[in-house]
Amino acid sequence: MNIIIITGASSGIGREFARQLDKRLYSVDVFWLISRRKKELEALAQTLEHPVRIFDMDLTLESDIFAFKAILEKECPVVRMLVNCAGYGLMGAFDRVSMGEQSGQIDLNCKALVQMTHMCIPYMKPNSRILQLASSAAFLPQADFAVYAASKSFVLSFSRALAQELKEKSIYVTAVCPGPVNTAFFERAEKFGSTLAVKKLTMVEASEVVSDALKASAQRRRVCITGIPMKLFYLAAGIFPHEIMLQGAAALKKLEKIKTGKGKT
Ligand SMILES: NC(=O)c1ccc[n+]([C@@H]2O[C@H](COP(=O)([O-])OP(=O)(O)OC[C@H]3O[C@@H](n4cnc5c(N)ncnc54)[C@H](OP(=O)(O)O)[C@@H]3O)[C@@H](O)[C@H]2O)c1
Repeated sequence: MNIIIITGASSGIGREFARQLDKRLYSVDVFWLISRRKKELEALAQTLEHPVRIFDMDLTLESDIFAFKAILEKECPVVRMLVNCAGYGLMGAFDRVSMGEQSGQIDLNCKALVQMTHMCIPYMKPNSRILQLASSAAFLPQADFAVYAASKSFVLSFSRALAQELKEKSIYVTAVCPGPVNTAFFERAEKFGSTLAVKKLTMVEASEVVSDALKASAQRRRVCITGIPMKLFYLAAGIFPHEIMLQGAAALKKLEKIKTGKGKT
């Protein structure tokens, strides 16, 4: 049985991966969709042509991770593609966000992603694909988004190293690094702080991110960056000292606050 596994499929980018892959990959038997909200996954399943198996799991719970591992061991599917999309971020001053919320980002964005990847590789064959949702936040430390940006730097670094390791097995890994994407992500992210208005001007749709990511994966590219502004940001982060860029971002934030007379952080 050939399967695709998508985490975070109930919303945003993960849901879009399911929709686009449903139209593209015909040699897959079943889509395994993972997230906590079962109803959303069921609603998505109704719209897909491929058969779907739903896993309403909390990826930060060891018990759910072990239960999933046991299913893999019992059923031994061929994992043609793993898309690790589940993730969240919280803006705001580090010490104003609770420890649970801060470490939750590490548990989901880093630990669960590593666990899912580790569990799935034994079931992959040559030409299988892994797509890891990093972010343009991976390119540079970010004040007031410190843990999230660090977690995504982890994902980018991990994915690039893994891509090198798995080359011998002909398993291809792509780190997907979009800038702001128009999804429910910001509903949660802006609970304690807000993003720079200028950054939001670069916002793209999930459909664009996913079609770019699938193209990059097909071409065996290790990093995928959507849109010219984020490509320039990547270049800038490779050229300019990060201290200067951090100071620049802080100055921009101050300016925006003065201009609007508001701002939560
Ligand atoms: N939107 C952006 O601007 C942006 C930019 C760069 C990178 N990204 C990254 O892209 C990925 C997808 O984000 P998105 O924009 O699609 O956000 P989203 O619409 O909020 O989707 C997040 C997904 O993660 C799932 N999830 C959250 N906590 C979970 C848990 N404990 N266990 C299992 N699943 C969980 C959610 O499902 P349930 O709530 O049903 O569990 C949901 O399906 C994330 O890794 C994010 O960091 C987003």
